[in-house]
Amino acid sequence: MKLSTKLLAATCIVSASAASAVELEVTHWWTSGGEAAAVTKFAEAWNATGNTWIDGAIAGSGGTARPIIISRILGGDPMAATQLNHGRQAEELIEAGLMLDLTEVAEAGGWRDIVNPSSLLDSCTLDGRIYCVPVNIHSAQWMWLSHAAYETAGLPVPTTWTEFVETAPALREAGLQPLAMGQQGWQQNLAFGAITLAVAGLDPWREVTVNKNADVAAGPDYAAVFAAVADAREFARGSNVQDWNQATNMVISGTAGAQLMGDWAQGEFSVAGMQEGVDYSCLPGLGLNAILDTGGDAFYFPVNSDPEITAAQLELAALLISPDVQVDFNLAKGSLPVRGDIDLVAANGCMQKGLEILANGGILPSGDQSLSPDSQLQIEDLMAEFWSGDMSAEDAQARYAAIIASAD
Ligand code: GAL
Repeated sequence: MKLSTKLLAATCIVSASAASAVELEVTHWWTSGGEAAAVTKFAEAWNATGNTWIDGAIAGSGGTARPIIISRILGGDPMAATQLNHGRQAEELIEAGLMLDLTEVAEAGGWRDIVNPSSLLDSCTLDGRIYCVPVNIHSAQWMWLSHAAYETAGLPVPTTWTEFVETAPALREAGLQPLAMGQQGWQQNLAFGAITLAVAGLDPWREVTVNKNADVAAGPDYAAVFAAVADAREFARGSNVQDWNQATNMVISGTAGAQLMGDWAQGEFSVAGMQEGVDYSCLPGLGLNAILDTGGDAFYFPVNSDPEITAAQLELAALLISPDVQVDFNLAKGSLPVRGDIDLVAANGCMQKGLEILANGGILPSGDQSLSPDSQLQIEDLMAEFWSGDMSAEDAQARYAAIIASAD
């Protein structure tokens, strides 16, 4: 090729991409301080390509945002891209042909080789085609402890759930909230799941959540779990906040001893300028079982009739999983990258603990990956009722086993 032709070709590429600068509306539920800092990394990276990120943040939790997202797609008013949890939340939308097929971008980017663990990509795959790009690994089984609260109570900071349980009455006596808990079913269900893995361990959990074995759900392992959750309910009495990050703030300000919350809480501690091991501690697997689930977030791209939007959607999908963007975003978010081929040198202590557990294979699928959204919702409703009232542990277990018996 002559130089002039090469230059001409280069000019055409530049003007073609400038001409095709596209605005994409992206919906998500990342509205806490740490989450907003993280999503800004995506927006900046997309804007740096000459395109424009139109931020469609939906306040509240995933439970509030998901029905809004889904009804917009079903109602013919799709956003260009949306967060969902990777797993089964978009299954029906994909089956209805409403989600863009990303298989070619995924193949061009070698996603099958780089995404780790591969179950993340499996969760994006239906009938061999790929419909989402996983952007992070989040796990739910963490306890966050306030060093200031323990100083107030004059006690050493616990290193396990069992130790925490022993300190809870002393925290109460010192005028502190032992366990901070947002009054929403998904948070109470998260705590239930974390306590299950810590108290009963992996096998009973897998039997129930993955294999939907109602006998195990009704049996002695889960009786111990429900007794522990009933204790936790007492420690959480008086915690009247709603949102998860308000509960994290109680730990940050030292008015509560601990919170059971996913590793996205890390983003709040970072924004507050707190140091792990000095101002707060994080205990994966509640310090009892070094197991984490590999839930997290993925982006889906609703089908759009405008080919220019479609091309931009594919470009955005590739960008979200690119190495630099993965590092910037996940460091701010407190999550782990989905690529096995990048080094998180700047990861803080909590993330290092998570990475080590992942490397040692202590991983399991998330509830979102194992249970249908409908079954998940039934369990969340039960948890909301249990945590806010005085239902006995036995009654709650019986109702839980009944949900598992008909879960899909
Ligand atoms: C989860 C999501 C996290 C975090 C959390 C709280 O569903 O995976 O990224 O946003 O909700 O908002």
